[in-house]
Amino acid sequence: MKILVTGGLGFIGSHTVVELQNEGFEVVIIDDLSNASEDVIQGIVNITGKKPLFEKIDLREKAAVKDFFKKYNDVAGVIHFAASKAVGESVENPLLYYENNISSLVYLLQELKEKPEASFIFSSSCTVYGQAEKMPITEDAPVQAAMSPYGNTKQIGEEIINDTAKVTNISAILLRYFNPVGAHPSAEIGELPLGVPQNLVPFITQTGMGLRQELSVFGNDYPTPDGTAVRDYIHVVDLAKAHVIALQRLLNKKNVQKVETFNLGTGTGSSVLEVIHSFEKVSDKKLPYIIKPRREGDITEAYANTDKANNVLGWKAQLTLDEAMSSAWEWEQKVRNK
Ligand code: WQD
Repeated sequence: MKILVTGGLGFIGSHTVVELQNEGFEVVIIDDLSNASEDVIQGIVNITGKKPLFEKIDLREKAAVKDFFKKYNDVAGVIHFAASKAVGESVENPLLYYENNISSLVYLLQELKEKPEASFIFSSSCTVYGQAEKMPITEDAPVQAAMSPYGNTKQIGEEIINDTAKVTNISAILLRYFNPVGAHPSAEIGELPLGVPQNLVPFITQTGMGLRQELSVFGNDYPTPDGTAVRDYIHVVDLAKAHVIALQRLLNKKNVQKVETFNLGTGTGSSVLEVIHSFEKVSDKKLPYIIKPRREGDITEAYANTDKANNVLGWKAQLTLDEAMSSAWEWEQKVRNK
């Protein structure tokens, strides 16, 4: 029995491959290498001693997806990470996002519905909630109009999966991530953003390395305790472990609905300034930053109600923000000193 991990050489994907191998699963990775390097395979092997199978495939090629499932007819489950995921880029280039993120999902599901049964884990995002009314955010908080084509592809993806599961033998779990951060404690794998990082933590660690002159803090006039925006920063290793638990739930038929949804966060909100202070504590460095106006499309606050993930999925985040910042910093230093 094999598990397919699409986007398995990416940030969250590679950490999930490690945790799948730790649980004894045989993994086959599909990645188009558009936002990841094949060197990541060696990082995975250095951690687990096991080399995952790898196929370089663009999931927009319907025939290539069909051929893959002919070759690997013993795939029992799929964890689908592969997608374009830069919010800003999606505003500039919406068709790239709709083509890549939607057609790849459709082609995968078209193959899976031919199998006697299939378990499907979908990488979704708290972005679907927009600025939720109530904190902490529960899974039944209303899905609001997407703030970006990227967020819209996650909403549409969830709807496609719900509609498909109703009339096929596919069971699915939708995992709505809050803000994934950090790196594997071995510093063998981590986040490798191409170009100027859009996300807060890689920008902080690159500034810590002197690759960026200073961090721009996008707004300190939010209605929050210190005026900077609040997010739920979840360690990528905790996030990866949740994927394995969700997959096992489906494989063991423990799911109570054809499609289940879980928020994956720590349940604690941290402001931008608190993240900066955490970095300064773990790195013993002063981080240069400047307050700038708010970033277009940003929300004030988002942090998860984790009751459902804790009580139904049986998963709880274990690692702290300081541990996430420390691992992100270790990784940044290692990858720059290679
Ligand atoms: C976090 C906070 C920024 C950079 C996005 C996507 C989400 C997921 C994670 C893909 C915000 C502030 C940031 C900087 C800053 N992506 N910030 N200076 O926007 O919460 O979520 O990334 O799945 O779907 O929406 O994450 O890290 O970009 O920003 O002040 O240089 O840090 O304003 O308040 P975000 P982020």
